[in-house]
Amino acid sequence: MINNKKDIQKLIDSMTLEEKIAQMYQLPGQVYDFYSDRESGPVTGPEGLREYTQDLLFNVGSVLNITEASTARKIQKEYLEQNRLEIPLMFMFDIIHGHKTIFPIPLGAACSWNMNMIEESARVAAREGSVSGINVTFSPMADLVRDARWGRVMESPGEDPLLNARISAALVRGYQGSDPGAKHNLAACVKHFAAYGAAEAGRDYNTVDMSEYRLFNYYLQGYKAALDEGVKMVMTSFNTLNGVPATANKDLFCDLLRDKWDFQGTVISDWDAVSEMVYHGYSSDGSEAARQAVEAGVDIEMVSQEYVNNLTELIEEGVIKENKVDQAVERILNLKYELGLFADPFKFFDEQGEEKYHLCEEHRKKARRLAAESMVLLENNGILPLENNISSVTVVGPFADSGEILGEWSAVGRAEDTVTLKEGLKNQLSSKAELHVFSKIADLNKTQFGEIVSRVKESEATVLAVGEPQNWSGEANSRGRITLPEKQDRFIRRLVSALDEQESNLVMVLFNGRPLELEWYSENIPALLEAWYPGTEGGNAVADILLGRVNPSGKLTMSFPYSVGQMPLYYNRYSTGRPRGYEPGEEHYYSRYIDMPNEALYPFGYGLSYTTFDYQNFALEKNELTAGEEARVTGEILNSGDCKGQETVQLYIQDFEGSRVRPLKELKDYQKIELAAGERAEISFCITEEMLSYYCEGKYIVEEGEFAVFVGSSAHDLNECGTLYYKKS
Ligand code: NOJ
Repeated sequence: MINNKKDIQKLIDSMTLEEKIAQMYQLPGQVYDFYSDRESGPVTGPEGLREYTQDLLFNVGSVLNITEASTARKIQKEYLEQNRLEIPLMFMFDIIHGHKTIFPIPLGAACSWNMNMIEESARVAAREGSVSGINVTFSPMADLVRDARWGRVMESPGEDPLLNARISAALVRGYQGSDPGAKHNLAACVKHFAAYGAAEAGRDYNTVDMSEYRLFNYYLQGYKAALDEGVKMVMTSFNTLNGVPATANKDLFCDLLRDKWDFQGTVISDWDAVSEMVYHGYSSDGSEAARQAVEAGVDIEMVSQEYVNNLTELIEEGVIKENKVDQAVERILNLKYELGLFADPFKFFDEQGEEKYHLCEEHRKKARRLAAESMVLLENNGILPLENNISSVTVVGPFADSGEILGEWSAVGRAEDTVTLKEGLKNQLSSKAELHVFSKIADLNKTQFGEIVSRVKESEATVLAVGEPQNWSGEANSRGRITLPEKQDRFIRRLVSALDEQESNLVMVLFNGRPLELEWYSENIPALLEAWYPGTEGGNAVADILLGRVNPSGKLTMSFPYSVGQMPLYYNRYSTGRPRGYEPGEEHYYSRYIDMPNEALYPFGYGLSYTTFDYQNFALEKNELTAGEEARVTGEILNSGDCKGQETVQLYIQDFEGSRVRPLKELKDYQKIELAAGERAEISFCITEEMLSYYCEGKYIVEEGEFAVFVGSSAHDLNECGTLYYKKS
């Protein structure tokens, strides 16, 4: 019996080398059926040419992609009957934005800027996942992103390090609670360490090459925040970082993660990432890849089999010391112990819990609230919200009545459990209201198109339910163009030209996983709502916004470009030497494009409401800050419109001068407040020394000098609050 960590040591002493190495292997769930089929001898997996010998099957440390309690129970039972030392299996899965009840995609959820709701979404996911027998989720993904071509921006919190950190921490709190081994909790795995989001040209798995200055000041905060919150596992990334694959990168894993940050948990490779080091041309063969990954401290190899095939020989030849393997196994078994699996290997298989919690009313309600709060109103000429007693609405487009609005990384979520936009509107429109739906808009003949135009003209409002098919974002779904699908674009332009400007009652609702090029629509359509992939309750949540039951309050966490040519695009970029320092008249030689602005069409932090907020009298209370003190910036926000609303008030700071070139501005804090119509609130932000610091040559420093302070409603809409002079004494 394993009652404490000392017992784990004894257990390791009693294991054969092969048993230890098998603990370091993670088996893909696709082969789980072979557990039942073991009479038939060695098996060859369905994916690739891998061999899954019976020895391996009954000694592996963990399995991924098993998603139901009954299957997991069966596997655990058979496994324990065969496993010599009765070491329980551990189950892992990508629960990224909900398990059965799907929440909005992470990029959408981030736009809520609502950490309580994000944490709550992870609690719900943990409850639903843990009753299905899952022990570890491969979330949060803390990769900072700047390039909308990358398909995995949909999994990321966006372009800002501060938000990225707060969201990672909230997710870890939500999944793990105070004890990842407690009922209804999961252990979390932060990924992909490190800087996977900076893949060159937004092409998935591509090279990352960046300075330490940039890495520390932008890219690492999200992972670090998860570690500070006690995350139990870290996943390596597929990319190389400065010429070395992350999966063998000792700077990252030995020096930084283990030594400097003192991470005691388990490190897992990404899927096949150990083998891929051979393709990178970094390892001469699988054996070298295994050695390099083990030496970097990668405890578990996901799916590829370089450890299993090579470690015994490497140890026998003395290339690797057996204690390296022992350390890895100790970390893996510790996690099993912390999860309570030694005490009861069956504790998480709860079929009744699945019945009770999966898609339950409470979870659906929470998903609906977060979905509505993540939507970002990009344009509105006043057409929204629609009148409550509206008599006729037409919904047009592929997402008009589709359950395919969950987004990637929702493997267990089902379209048939999802509330479509049509259903959501039906639920809320008066029973007398007419609702016409046209899902097909591609390749219409004249008559079919004419029918839609007549309906549109007869209706009080027309919702264009358009966007990207779900599998246009997510892993391996990078795009070189970030436009709407061509057929949708063609239809929209045709429809717009068939309508007089005065009679245009179009509202565009976008379902997509990345920032898109929206300039033409912004000029030609009265209202644009970014709905992302809103999840299981998506249709209800969109209807909540369209009909004004919920006032939109989402703010973008990733810049929307004029054109893909602006990529990478982000608000917190460094100052250049041009325009600063140039005389008027010499604008031509500025750092700029000659055919479009430098800035985003819709910037970071941007999002409209059905009401308006006035920022008044924002100013610094004093202009000096001495080391060890704090300064304050205060002002008032007035809800100057005629309905209740929420506003996210944002604090930005610009460091005018430093030993390194500094960003034009950086988000340092924010407050999300709710005000009734006509109500005002006093807002105060505390400015600390830490907010003025940055990473430079191995440490965080604060330098004397001037800092501009801004408060506003987006990175482009800021009120100057004065200049703060920081001095050491
Ligand atoms: C590959 C992905 O990069 C990673 O994010 C995921 O957790 C693993 N596959 C497991 O599915």
